[in-house]
Amino acid sequence: MNTTFEQLKQHCMGCRDCALCETRHNVVFGVGNPTAEVLFIGEGPGENEDLQGEPFVGRAGKLLDTMLEAVGLSRKHNIYIANMVKCRPPQNRDPLPEEQAACRKWLDAQIRALSPKIVVCLGRIAAFKFISEDFKVTKQHGQFIEKDGVLYMGMFHPAAILRNPNQKPLAFADFVALRDKIQEVCEHTEFCFE
Ligand code: URA
Repeated sequence: MNTTFEQLKQHCMGCRDCALCETRHNVVFGVGNPTAEVLFIGEGPGENEDLQGEPFVGRAGKLLDTMLEAVGLSRKHNIYIANMVKCRPPQNRDPLPEEQAACRKWLDAQIRALSPKIVVCLGRIAAFKFISEDFKVTKQHGQFIEKDGVLYMGMFHPAAILRNPNQKPLAFADFVALRDKIQEVCEHTEFCFE
């Protein structure tokens, strides 16, 4: 991790700006390459993430990794993954507006540090905030929307794909579209096939 990210992470680890700090085991700051051109944003940590301190390490995370790997992307090499909130909401409920607001400064600082070319919103919570308040994942997934020189795309949340496996082919098509867009607009992203 480069210095800006490391300092930011250390600062974030001590955050007590909303009630989620009372029940968390770990702050889940984010994972990936701090020079990535592509940022994925999920909702918030679940139980496994809270225990391990890393985003998307449960079943949904395994599915995310599989889809990423299929198009030459990986959290180890060429993307960064963060969440709207850095601490687990109890019982995996949606993060409350005030929790999202209190946490937003960390995500904004991550975005400033990364300066991504493409932001992928995993599920409606991130898509509402970054794309539009009336974003419909089922209708608008896979579409790129440009704002201030950054391309945003909403995707099905991997947990939603686990609940509704019929969506897998559509979801996978979005990863292929993402790969094509990376080839078009990203300068230093190298695809990796291990
Ligand atoms: N779901 C999310 O949105 N983020 C995680 O880190 C894990 C599950």
